[in-house]
Amino acid sequence: MIVDTMEAARLIKSGRNVAIPTETVYGLAADATNAIAVRNTFRLKKRPADNPLIVHLSGTDQIKLFSDADPALYRKLTATFWPGPLTLILQRKNSVLDIITAGLDTVALRMPDHPKALEIIGRAGPVTAPSANVSGRPSPTKPAHVIEDFGDEVPVVDGGECRVGIESTVLDLTHSEPVILRPGQLSADEISRCIGRPVTAGMKHPSQSLKSPGTRYTHYTPKAVVRWMTDSTRYKPSESAFYIFHTAEPETSGKDQNLVHFHGEFHKMARALYDLYRTADQHKFSEIWIEPLPSTTSHPILPALQDRIERSAAQ
Ligand code: TXA
Ligand code: MG
Repeated sequence: MIVDTMEAARLIKSGRNVAIPTETVYGLAADATNAIAVRNTFRLKKRPADNPLIVHLSGTDQIKLFSDADPALYRKLTATFWPGPLTLILQRKNSVLDIITAGLDTVALRMPDHPKALEIIGRAGPVTAPSANVSGRPSPTKPAHVIEDFGDEVPVVDGGECRVGIESTVLDLTHSEPVILRPGQLSADEISRCIGRPVTAGMKHPSQSLKSPGTRYTHYTPKAVVRWMTDSTRYKPSESAFYIFHTAEPETSGKDQNLVHFHGEFHKMARALYDLYRTADQHKFSEIWIEPLPSTTSHPILPALQDRIERSAAQ
């Protein structure tokens, strides 16, 4: 069921979960002050209770509702990148609901860059919003994806196709050095330039699995098996395999239904990835082969693309 922003805000205030558009992916929004509504988010998504949620704000002034951290710690970042695809991990206030933080002493905060999201949060107040997919499925970048996972159980606000297409960069500011727990469109370099300090890309470090619980779980997986292409598994016309190329190679007849080229446009590839996963499933492809990403090109979104594809290929 599609609802407008006014109705969405009303439903959220009455304790319902509503899917709302953001610039990254659709989020399953619930009133961040209503423990029953937030608990229902975990039930709907079949999400493990030890995986904390991001609180979405409509203004930087709302940070202090959730954290007493010194504003000097985040002011430059929020001034530069909010609203935008950057989630900040800060020490939490005691008043933050335990169910949101999964009992951690920190809280995740972000201000999404989508007019409809900002309008809804402006009316309803801060909301928790994990990606609006059933846990383990690819994140939704279109209203149809949310409906595919939840049917009539979740009303959806239509904000079109998400501009970024993969989830926000998660930056932990609770240590002496800022650590990226989840790479996103906003790169370590851009963050580092903003604050004039080095930023650790902490994703791969095993100790991070405890700090960012979500990174432990199966993620972003279509039903089809996702594999990196090798020399011996490059394109061949096939009924059962779908191929994703970031280059213009190989040249084909143009009539082939089972491949897509991104011609080096990595933002476009990130925007399309989850939709391609879902489309490949609908067309009953059993394999998705992806051309290995270049290690020589330093496009800012490459680490995030590599991360998401690796996670879906890791099964
Ligand atoms: O782009 C996004 O961030 C989207 C849109 C809807 O805003 N939301 C999103 O939420 O991706 P979710 O729940 O799918 O992912 C949240 C991630 C998880 O990996 C979770 O473990 C981590 O953020 N996280 C949340 N709170 C945390 C905390 N206090 N400390 C460390 N990691 C945290
Ligand atoms: Mg998610």
